[in-house]
Amino acid sequence: MTPEEVANRLVRYAELRPCTTAFIDTRTRGSDQKENFTIIGPGVAENPDQYVHIDIPHGFNIGGARQPPGCINSQHSHETAEVFIVHFGRWKFSLGYEASDGEVELGPGDTISIPVHVFRGFTNIGDGPGFLFAVLGGDDPGRVTWAPYVFREAKKYGLILLEDGGLIDTSKGETVPADGAAMPPTTEEDARRLRRMTANELNECVVRITELDERSVELFGDDGLTESAIIGARNEDEGMPAGKMTWPHGFHVRRWKFKPGYSTHPHSRDEEEVILVQSGRLKYVWEGGELEMQAGDVLTAPIAQVRQYVSADDEGAIAYVVRGGDSPSRYTRAAN
Ligand SMILES: [Fe+2]
Repeated sequence: MTPEEVANRLVRYAELRPCTTAFIDTRTRGSDQKENFTIIGPGVAENPDQYVHIDIPHGFNIGGARQPPGCINSQHSHETAEVFIVHFGRWKFSLGYEASDGEVELGPGDTISIPVHVFRGFTNIGDGPGFLFAVLGGDDPGRVTWAPYVFREAKKYGLILLEDGGLIDTSKGETVPADGAAMPPTTEEDARRLRRMTANELNECVVRITELDERSVELFGDDGLTESAIIGARNEDEGMPAGKMTWPHGFHVRRWKFKPGYSTHPHSRDEEEVILVQSGRLKYVWEGGELEMQAGDVLTAPIAQVRQYVSADDEGAIAYVVRGGDSPSRYTRAAN
């Protein structure tokens, strides 16, 4: 692959293109400052203007949310798995259609996986901006189900959600098209049919950064790079222990910890491998070139491409890795 071809698979944090009008709650006071990103795959945005950075189907979607202090992402539910990895900031996740079923606070490096058909919302509770990576299952994660109050609030601000997922802005004079239909608002009865989780069940969906060393292996047989299981069942082929969240997601999530200057052996993978750099500088090296990533950058390594990852400074590097499928193969080692 040429340097240009690989560069097309890299999204730099500094170049992320936000959409501030992605969803029905985009005008609602308290939620109107959120920025939504679709980094890999179309995500679940309701606004066709949302920019998709990489449209190669992966079997999962990578997105992001950036919010100023106090900003709320309203209660909603998905048809597929939704996992958040806190890149920076302090966040509160709340469950239930009125955000009253239970809550948990997360900080940088913590992960939460929220099961399907559960209402969830999240708020930046820190004193500066916060950024989350989000992983959604499937090539098409389907549509969002909003809690009843979200429809009521949106109507006050002139927004109507259509059946096909589009948004109509009546404050700009837009009307529901003749061939379109407004989405019936979620009723209280509908909302009550979704799963309710207890605080204990919620704790089983969270992995703190401090717990990750317990579930780690030396990836190339030495302590230069450890891989820690977060999401995914025990995998004999890879010699990986189970993550805390073992139910099928259609993808799995791991955490890498590099010693300063460490370089992996050249190797390839049979699955999509997406790298989310948490801290430090990390080089991606392939036959045709190399590129360097920094915190917040996202790279998707092509299936079967022989690659090396190199910690590029004397602080080491931390990254989160998302790979396709529920039962990945072990990497294939290439000749040095
Ligand atoms: Fe979501």
